[in-house]
Amino acid sequence: MQNSEVMPPLPQKYKLPPIVNPIWHLSNLTKSSGACEKLKESIRDQYGVKHCMLLDRARSGLYLLIKGMGLSEEWISTSFMHRPASVVLKNFVKTIRLASIYQDFNIDVEDCESLITPQTQVIMASHIYGKAADVTRLREISDKNNIFLIENAVHMPGGIDVNGRRLGSWGDASILSFNVDKPAGAILGGALITNRDDVWEAVNAQPMGESNKKECWNRIYNSYLSYHLKHLVLKLPRTQHLREAKDGVKIIESFSVDKYKTYTPRTIHPLQAAAATRGIRQSLENCRKRIKNAEYLSGLLAQSDKLILPTTSPECPNTYLYYPIILKKPLNRHDIAVKLCDMGIETKWRYYPMHLQPGFTDCPSSDMSKTMEYWEQHLLIPCGVKCTESQLKYLADSLLSLL
Ligand SMILES: Cc1ncc(COP(=O)(O)O)c(C=O)c1O
Repeated sequence: MQNSEVMPPLPQKYKLPPIVNPIWHLSNLTKSSGACEKLKESIRDQYGVKHCMLLDRARSGLYLLIKGMGLSEEWISTSFMHRPASVVLKNFVKTIRLASIYQDFNIDVEDCESLITPQTQVIMASHIYGKAADVTRLREISDKNNIFLIENAVHMPGGIDVNGRRLGSWGDASILSFNVDKPAGAILGGALITNRDDVWEAVNAQPMGESNKKECWNRIYNSYLSYHLKHLVLKLPRTQHLREAKDGVKIIESFSVDKYKTYTPRTIHPLQAAAATRGIRQSLENCRKRIKNAEYLSGLLAQSDKLILPTTSPECPNTYLYYPIILKKPLNRHDIAVKLCDMGIETKWRYYPMHLQPGFTDCPSSDMSKTMEYWEQHLLIPCGVKCTESQLKYLADSLLSLL
């Protein structure tokens, strides 16, 4: 096993807030009456779309699009993707072509275009870590080739414009997620949004399961312990195992491809909708704070020539849901992560490349060397709304001292 496949341990004493912080509070759960309608209204408004369907998870939106729009032939996505969502695709789409990624982890547009075949029906562009994919060019390519564009906007808060059009409304349809590590910082749940009436009618015609009450309560309980009470839980005796480095690859791969041989998309539970309503409303303000923090941190880290920092531009704005740095070789991210952990700084990484995972090794792909390089060398560091300037200064000083 390579070091880079082992998740970094959690610090004994946190000097900066953890990377993921929930936005929802228990008090929000008492406001579940009418929450679904309020949530839909906020989403339509923030993402500039006409239709919004609330779901148990974002991945249910992908399933509904495959079935409703008959998109089961050929998709183009990237290898830097979420395994369970990809497992939905793997079970219901004949071919998934994997394009290379840019340094910002988003789909490489030229490479994507080169993968198009007469069978290609869908391009799925994920705004990874809160940085927008190049929707202007992707829209052009999709229109030119009569391809259905899906924005995977699970990492993208609402209210962000590119060329006068909201992110989330560039796709023929887009998916959102309300999980705790997403912009809404809530308790599972997701949505499918679209401006196209024909798409709306087609997905509405699909069978839909009831919300899963048991899963909802389990998530509330687990999410409360793991995030709201994280500091307290980690102080309890016999919690050392929670801090230890884990084999991240094994954990990710353990999500079997067979799990979604059959799939039932479900609607959201009203309690989840209540939590997400607060999260979605708060997400615009949180996004502004994150951008401010990220710009401050980037200013401090810019002095090093051993780091590649996240960027932003009007065509591809960055909302910094996560703050990823790329460590230039020969720096080893696992070594740096362990040292930062000793300094009280949590780090993490996500998205073990799909083309290496069970069930996906047969996906036709482009040259994956860039995907591998960015995966192996990247590190997510804390830069969320709860970080103060002095904490970010401490983070920058600590990191720079290790390079
Ligand atoms: C990039 C990406 N896409 C899709 C999903 C799936 O979202 P959900 O868990 O709501 O189905 C996730 C979840 O973490 C994700 O990170």
